Amino acid sequence: MAYRSLRAFLDRLEKAGELVRVREPVDPVLEMAALADRAAKQEGPALLFENPRSGRFPVAMNLFGTRRRTSWALSCEDYDEPARELAALLKTAPPQGLWEKLKLLPKLGKLASLTPKHVSGGPVQEVVEREPDLSSLPVLTTWPHDAGPFVTLPQVVTRDPESGARNVGMYRIQVLGPRRAALHWQLHKTATAHYRAYKRRGERMPVAIALGGDPALTYCASAPLPPGVDEYLFAGFLRKEGVALTRGVTVDLEYPADADLVIEGFCDPAAPLVREGPFGDHTGYYSLADDYPVLEVTALVHRRDAVYPATVVGPPPMEDLWMGNATGRLFLPMLQLVFPEVVDMSFPTAGVFHNLCFLSIRKEFPGHARKLMHGLWGSGQMSSTKTLVVFDEDVDVQDHAQCAWRAFANVDARRDLVVVDGPVDVLDHAAPAFALGAKVGVDATRKWAEEGGREWPEPCVHPPELLRRMDELYQRLVPGAAAPARMKLPLSPAASWTPKRSGG
Ligand SMILES: Cc1cc2nc3c(=O)[nH]c(=O)nc-3n(C[C@H](O)[C@H](O)[C@H](O)COP(=O)(O)O)c2cc1C
Repeated sequence: MAYRSLRAFLDRLEKAGELVRVREPVDPVLEMAALADRAAKQEGPALLFENPRSGRFPVAMNLFGTRRRTSWALSCEDYDEPARELAALLKTAPPQGLWEKLKLLPKLGKLASLTPKHVSGGPVQEVVEREPDLSSLPVLTTWPHDAGPFVTLPQVVTRDPESGARNVGMYRIQVLGPRRAALHWQLHKTATAHYRAYKRRGERMPVAIALGGDPALTYCASAPLPPGVDEYLFAGFLRKEGVALTRGVTVDLEYPADADLVIEGFCDPAAPLVREGPFGDHTGYYSLADDYPVLEVTALVHRRDAVYPATVVGPPPMEDLWMGNATGRLFLPMLQLVFPEVVDMSFPTAGVFHNLCFLSIRKEFPGHARKLMHGLWGSGQMSSTKTLVVFDEDVDVQDHAQCAWRAFANVDARRDLVVVDGPVDVLDHAAPAFALGAKVGVDATRKWAEEGGREWPEPCVHPPELLRRMDELYQRLVPGAAAPARMKLPLSPAASWTPKRSGG
């Protein structure tokens, strides 16, 4: 079910006992972040700060703080459901390029209703302020050494001046003055490509920063869709209803008519850049100050009863873990179109998404794991994954303890590590140069003879029938015992435990 507003989502959370109203005055400077950090670390409730010490709107935090709430935010009971739907849909689409298929989504008959709709006005424009003061918003300062207040859950809408394609990205915004802000779109992101295109053309770049509305829209701004694929179309697919878009009052851009607030403005690529940061980031460290483009604000529009959404990122686990986890599930079917050998994929929390990815594959030839690594390092945002660990299909990559056991056991450091140089995440402070450094691939599959494997032993497991009988007995002996975590068994017939030979 699609939500008409952020308040509609909050109502649902409240009815389910998943929302706590904070009536005490709490400061957007550090206090809200510290409280939300605690809630996020304990998979606690969403928080609605009704009386911020500064700022004229209530603040909603920890909206995505559990798998359940993130699923509800995406209009489903569990985000494996839309992942399965997407997988089925992609199988029926004509076999063109990966993203061509996504662009085709609305053309697939019943999905036509999922494309964005165009309306005029809308709840988000109930109040139009042409000389706004951003300091009237409850913008959070989240960590002690942050350079100032940052908008942390925005949908930044821009347009490619050449193709006209819209992009929606989640890039933090540092408030610098009443009508001035810094735009932290990083080097490899789509809005940066738009910025470069406006610069080449010598034109000002319109920007709209939407906040709130249906939380599926907020999630989609963070989703790694490639340039040219509209995040609001993807949101329509998730919420099973097209997103209503309205035109800006001072910028020629469309944004969600049901959003809570929108900051409109322009970025002049000819203007000097401005110092942005430091900012306590999702790596758990402060990202270093650097130069970024400036937004000159031309209007603030908002609902009369707007709610300002925010998040705190920092040492994991934080709520963005669940947004990243949803992305891992939703994007697996798309990844499998290009890499059909991939069985499953997981991003362990401590890897803060771009530092570590586990994959299991149906290995079919010597060097298969390496082929996949190089393919991923050449694909969109996966290209900045610092560590890729590839397992055989019988390893459950969602079970990170099992992965550690298997990887430590199966890897010979000299033979099985692949180190490559290339672009890395802008936030990687360990890289010797800005956004450029090394990435490592770990081939944790069983090694075939051609790969230098000797005889490969089997992991120890009891036969399934014996396990079933002994589990029953144990349950009688220890009533109420939890089901044991076991290896993914029985193994699929393809995964032989005898050493494999190519072609064998
Ligand atoms: C809470 C949160 C904050 C983020 N902040 C930034 C940011 O400040 N700058 C940035 O480039 N990416 C940031 N990201 C990651 C981008 O939103 C993500 O890479 C997205 O896919 C980019 O979209 P694009 O491919 O349209 O550029 C953030 C993600 C989350 C979940």
